[in-house]
This record gives sequence, structure tokens and C-alpha cells, in this order.
Amino acid sequence: MTALGFVGTGRLAQSLAQALSRAGYDVAAVANRSAGSAERMAASLPECRAMSAQAVVDACDLVFLTVPDSAIAPVTASLTWRRGQAVVHCSGATEVSALDAAAGAGAMTGGFHPLLGFSGIGETPLAGATVTVEADPPLLGMLEDMLAALGCRLNRLPPGKRALYHAGAGYGAGFIHVLMAEIAGYWREWDGSEADMLAAMLPMARATLDTIERGGIAATMPGPISRGDAGSVAAHLDAMAGMPDRGAFYRAHSLRSVDLALAAGRIDAEAAAHLRALLTRPSRDAE
Ligand SMILES: NC(=O)c1ccc[n+]([C@@H]2O[C@H](COP(=O)([O-])OP(=O)(O)OC[C@H]3O[C@@H](n4cnc5c(N)ncnc54)[C@H](OP(=O)(O)O)[C@@H]3O)[C@@H](O)[C@H]2O)c1
Repeated sequence: MTALGFVGTGRLAQSLAQALSRAGYDVAAVANRSAGSAERMAASLPECRAMSAQAVVDACDLVFLTVPDSAIAPVTASLTWRRGQAVVHCSGATEVSALDAAAGAGAMTGGFHPLLGFSGIGETPLAGATVTVEADPPLLGMLEDMLAALGCRLNRLPPGKRALYHAGAGYGAGFIHVLMAEIAGYWREWDGSEADMLAAMLPMARATLDTIERGGIAATMPGPISRGDAGSVAAHLDAMAGMPDRGAFYRAHSLRSVDLALAAGRIDAEAAAHLRALLTRPSRDAE
């Protein structure tokens, strides 16, 4: 059976190792900069041992390098790899070439980036998630089998696109936090609490995601811009007089909404031009 190892036993490694072990994989060896975390992770897995990073590389067929992004290249270069073994990192933004020191020694290298947030609070379930894989055969086949066993969906990415891909992925995760913080800012204008705001907005946000899943992005977009309602948009902008930050954020999102409404045929070119003029006219935000 393929022996799996982890170098770096942080948030992602803990959830991934548990899921792989439950799926029948042999997570045989783990290493970490501070030993306590590796000992705890090894103790939570059947037949797994904590050891040095080099001993993990020597003992395992496939090594997950689950260290912070900035440590991937230096840790790879500090270890001795062998022909035929495999090493993957789990960073979304870092190119697979960060593992070149291992590739130079004949190891197969790849990227294995779960599109999930691992908070370290309990185990993050992987089943149902998408994992972006960058690898060539035969490593690709090994990772495809692994994803099937984990119940994950495979997404392929060509070399050279990781930073752009990762920047975009932020809109499905951390930037949702930014949107919620923006709404909380509006609610503070009338002393509305964040708890009340979330209780009100989360059901609408969840329903919006469901609608996108059923009907697509552009066609299902709600709101005044999708109805060509320039009067409401003008009222929004007037209400933001004296709020330059809020106004700039609103205008940027609204201009993208005009593009979507036009693409979906919800508004015509004339209505789109009128809305764009409204949204780009000299701002009263700073008044
Ligand atoms: N967390 C997420 O939501 C998430 C999602 C997708 C992808 N990823 C990717 O997964 C990778 C790991 O992220 P993470 O969130 O799991 O990080 P993390 O929780 O900070 O864990 C990193 C682990 O690496 C260890 N480490 C640091 N430098 C090391 C070194 N030189 N040698 C050996 N171990 C070292 C740390 O040890 P100490 O205990 O001593 O600090 C820590 O246990 C990153 O590439 C990240 O981009 C993370």
C-alpha cells in the first residue's frame, strides 16, 4: 500500500490526514517544525509515527508538504528526495515549480489544493469539496484515485495560473466576509447590530447561492439594476453622500451588475448606458 507522509501538521494536514486514513490510506509518518503537534497528529492516526522531515521523506511514497507557502521551496530544498517518489504541496497560489529541488532528484511533483477553508476548529469535512490538481501521469492517476476515495471533485489547472486562480477563489471565501462586513457598516448607520444583520442577511445570501446553482449567474441576479431601476440606484448614491469608501465599493459592484444584467438581456443597451453614466458621474460621496 502507498505510504503517505505529511511534513507540516497544521490546520489543513490534520483534516486531510484524518480523511485519508478513514478512506483506507496508510498515513504512515508525519513531521513538524515543533514536535508536539506532530506527536499529537501521529497519535490520532492508526500506525502513524512522528519523526524528522527527512525520515518522513525516506519512509513515504507520497509526501504532502503542508507547510506555509513561504516555506515550501526552502523545506523542499533542505530535504533529500529519491527517484520515483512523489511530493505535492497544498498551496493555491504557489507554483508547483517551488518543488523543483525534489523534481531535480527524480521525484514526481504536483499541486493539491482543496477549495475549502481549514480553520483548525475541529475537522473540516472534505467530502463534496473540489480539489484543484496540477500533476502529470502517473502522479495524476494516484491523485485522481485519492479524490474518488475522498468523495471530492477534481479540478485541473495548467501551470502558470495558480496566483490568478487563487486570487479569484478568494471571492468564494474570504471576500464573502468582506461583503458581510460591508453590510454591517450600513446597519451601524441606524445602530443595527451585527447579530441582527447576519440573522436577516444570511438566509437571503444562502437562497441567492441556491438560485445561482439552479439558474446560473447572470440570469438569476436580483436587485434594482437587473430591473433597470435607475431611480433606486440614484437614491442609493444620494444616501451615500459623505461616505466616499462606501460609495466607491457600491459603484464598483453596481457597474459589474450592469454588465451582468445586460448579458442576461434583463436591460437593453440604452438602460445600461444610462446606469453606467449615473454610476460614473462625478461623485457626491466626498461631500
Ligand atoms: N488553512 C486553509 O484554509 C488552507 C486551505 C487551502 C490550502 N491551504 C494551504 O495548505 C498549506 C498549509 O496551510 P495551513 O493553513 O495548514 O498552515 P498552518 O496551520 O499554519 O500549518 C503549517 C504547519 O507547518 C509547520 N511548519 C512551518 N514551517 C515548517 C518547516 N520549516 N518545517 C516543518 N514544518 C513547518 C507549522 O509548524 P508549527 O506548529 O511549528 O508552526 C505548522 O504545523 C499552505 O500551503 C496553505 O496555503 C490552507
